Amino acid sequence: LKPSFSDLVKNSPILPVLHMESIEEAVHVSRALYKGGITCAEIVLRSPVALDCIKAVRKQVPEMTVGVGTLTTPKQVIDSVAAGAQFLVSPSLTRTLATAMIKTGLPMLPGTVSPSEITQALELGITEVKFFPAEQYGGIKTIKALASVFSQVKFCPTGGVSLDNLGEYFANDSIFAVGGSWMVPKDLIANKDWDAITLLSEQAIAAIHKLGR
Ligand code: 3PG
Repeated sequence: LKPSFSDLVKNSPILPVLHMESIEEAVHVSRALYKGGITCAEIVLRSPVALDCIKAVRKQVPEMTVGVGTLTTPKQVIDSVAAGAQFLVSPSLTRTLATAMIKTGLPMLPGTVSPSEITQALELGITEVKFFPAEQYGGIKTIKALASVFSQVKFCPTGGVSLDNLGEYFANDSIFAVGGSWMVPKDLIANKDWDAITLLSEQAIAAIHKLGR
């Protein structure tokens, strides 16, 4: 049986979105997140060193489960698997892209925000999706409305999620995890304040456990 995305994040249902500018940064941030109790990290393909960062984290922080984000082409899927990505995330869903993602056999999370996109996901056998950009697309209100129609679908809202609105999201059963970058603020990375990133991660995990998740 193919591992599901929700299995991957079962123990720490937070998917940090990492926009990394160097290998050193990626290794330190991954260690800091893991120390704070977050066991998965999504490195986004929005910097020229993203694939090298995935490779380095696999090697130097083997305890962290590291995946790739911002996938938009099948070629990127292939390159990411070659770099060692352990899961695949995309902001979008097309038949071409999703088929390439499915082919890898890795846990995958394509992005959908509308009924038609969700139907397209279901046609491909996908029931776990990213909802991005979450706040801009109506946040939990929109997800609730979608979930009432698509009860078999589980969502990972990402974009504008923070400690302030975590509770609203996790109060709904259709949410299996949330994604975001609030625990890896740019200024802390610039100051190499890895301990502060660990602290923010601990806070996030504690808040989620307090909600019974
Ligand atoms: C992103 O793609 O950058 C993520 O959605 C992160 O969003 P956030 O910075 O609002 O958490």
